Amino acid sequence: VVLTDENTSIHCLPYFKSNYLQELPFVHVEITQGELYKNIGEVEKLWERWMHEQVDRQALIICLGGGMVSDAGGFAAGTFKRGIRCIHVPTTNLAMCDAALGGKTAINFNGIKNQIGLLHQPEAVLIDPTFLQTLPERDLISGFAETLKHALIADHPFWLTLKNCDVLQASTNLSILLKSAQIKLSITEQDIDDRGIRQQLNFGHTVGHAVEAISLESVHPLLHGEAVAFGMVAEAWISTKVSELPTNELKEICATMTRIYAKTNFNLDLDNNNLLLLMKQDKKNTEARITCTLLTNIGQPEIAHQVDEHLLREGMQFAMDQFAA
Ligand SMILES: NC(=O)c1ccc[n+]([C@@H]2O[C@H](COP(=O)([O-])OP(=O)(O)OC[C@H]3O[C@@H](n4cnc5c(N)ncnc54)[C@H](O)[C@@H]3O)[C@@H](O)[C@H]2O)c1
Ligand SMILES: [Zn+2]
Repeated sequence: VVLTDENTSIHCLPYFKSNYLQELPFVHVEITQGELYKNIGEVEKLWERWMHEQVDRQALIICLGGGMVSDAGGFAAGTFKRGIRCIHVPTTNLAMCDAALGGKTAINFNGIKNQIGLLHQPEAVLIDPTFLQTLPERDLISGFAETLKHALIADHPFWLTLKNCDVLQASTNLSILLKSAQIKLSITEQDIDDRGIRQQLNFGHTVGHAVEAISLESVHPLLHGEAVAFGMVAEAWISTKVSELPTNELKEICATMTRIYAKTNFNLDLDNNNLLLLMKQDKKNTEARITCTLLTNIGQPEIAHQVDEHLLREGMQFAMDQFAA
């Protein structure tokens, strides 16, 4: 079964078919594109269609798309008949470097991102930058946030090569994509069950996920990576207060993020009480205290910091001021 969304049906399936599937027979199933549809309703439609097509336990689901397709498709595959095999063919840089790797799958539920999910490892992940030729610039730049994050949590020299880069070139460059993907893989491989150091990958995401969820209800929703870029600035500021990130490194991080995300409209209502409520729902928390992954230096993360609400508010205000400046 080849699973696509409305956009990857048009832009990616013809190339995938002629270059990779060739004469192999397959069933094509399409889901509705966009984060709003990463929900149980869309997954139900998949299960129904698969039953209709008599998909059995020997079947292979090929998720051809961005993180939405690998998250929802991987979740549907992992639950259907107690789990059938899947392969991810990511078509966004975000999915190539992040979402398609590591086996986490999820759907959003009751307004909370990735609330319902399971670990279901793909049999393989195929990275082919040709797919990126049709990806809108805004998505490319957004997805690059995860690569910046990988450098910030794991590899200072990599950060130095990225911080002044041309974002459109860097986000489609195979060696940068692979380096970024390898950082994600090496962290997830050390912590398959997501009990420890995998939380390093959450840098920028405590704030980022909350901001993304709030903005999904607004007229100008942020993309995942844009929200994470905002979250990284907020959490880098918090790192200077809690985990001794040097202020010159904070400045460097802010300079790069505000340059790359200069055109993003971070028009957020920081007084929205739901922001902190959303952070309290975060799966990383213990005893309802909000937990963040922070930096002690660029390249050196520290997981499981409990952060006071006033610091989170101030961190978000700091990020807002940086992007507004
Ligand atoms: N499971 C994980 O570990 C993990 C990690 C990071 C992010 N995620 C999830 O990934 C999702 C974001 O991923 P994304 O940014 O890839 O989103 P996406 O899948 O929604 O893709 C973004 C947009 O680009 C379109 N598109 C995709 N490939 C295209 C191409 N080659 N040409 C033209 N259009 C194309 C899509 O149809 C969509 O409109 C979020 O749901 C996030 O929660 C999951
Ligand atoms: Zn992310």
